[in-house]
Amino acid sequence: MENAKSLVAKEAAKLIEDGMVVGLGSGSTAGLFIMELGKRIQEEELTVFGVPTSFEARMLALQYGVPLVSLDEYDVDIAVDGADEVEKDTLYLIKGGGGCHTQEKIVDYSAKEFVVIVDESKLVNKLGEKYPIPVEVVPFAYSVVIKELINMGGNPTIRLGERKRGPIITDNGNMIIDVSMDIDNAEKLEKELNSIPGVVENGIFTKVDKVLVGTAKGVKTLKKK
Ligand code: A5P
Repeated sequence: MENAKSLVAKEAAKLIEDGMVVGLGSGSTAGLFIMELGKRIQEEELTVFGVPTSFEARMLALQYGVPLVSLDEYDVDIAVDGADEVEKDTLYLIKGGGGCHTQEKIVDYSAKEFVVIVDESKLVNKLGEKYPIPVEVVPFAYSVVIKELINMGGNPTIRLGERKRGPIITDNGNMIIDVSMDIDNAEKLEKELNSIPGVVENGIFTKVDKVLVGTAKGVKTLKKK
């Protein structure tokens, strides 16, 4: 899988043109993309700026020499980001396995083009098949959000740290509740989850332009059917 991730990251880096402002996604695949972009910037002396979607993306950009700007200053031309699940026919995603989906969605949705990079293991027939929906929640609200998610037919759990005792805290100072539930209408559910008071953002992404999939045989491009 590592090879497939590298392949797709390299392919995505080729999409970047001189003068572009690039949304830098989070996670291991997006991390490889940031590395490849940094290489191109140095080798080809490109003027390209990145907008990071997380603390992690920011650190990698600094490490690999991708100069950073903020959304206050520039619009994003293209965002390149990973995903936890991609529904094959619709290109709907679940993101937020790394707890970064709020800033990811802000940057990815604001971009003129949003390109997703994954290996084949992320493709599913039905969204939610393998992965619960990450929901970022203001800590004050967690118990009422949990009750509401149960009312909606979901099975919510608070995401706990692996070494840290207690809930993980996002880059925005919030908690994550992972909720397993049937996703019959992803676009509707994406909006409904965000209408619960205390929810900051959920990990259903329904506005995707293109998905690049790394396979053993090379990279294939998925477009909406
Ligand atoms: C981060 O919160 C996620 O949205 C990532 O984009 C997602 O988890 C993909 O990560 P990998 O590329 O490491 O699988």
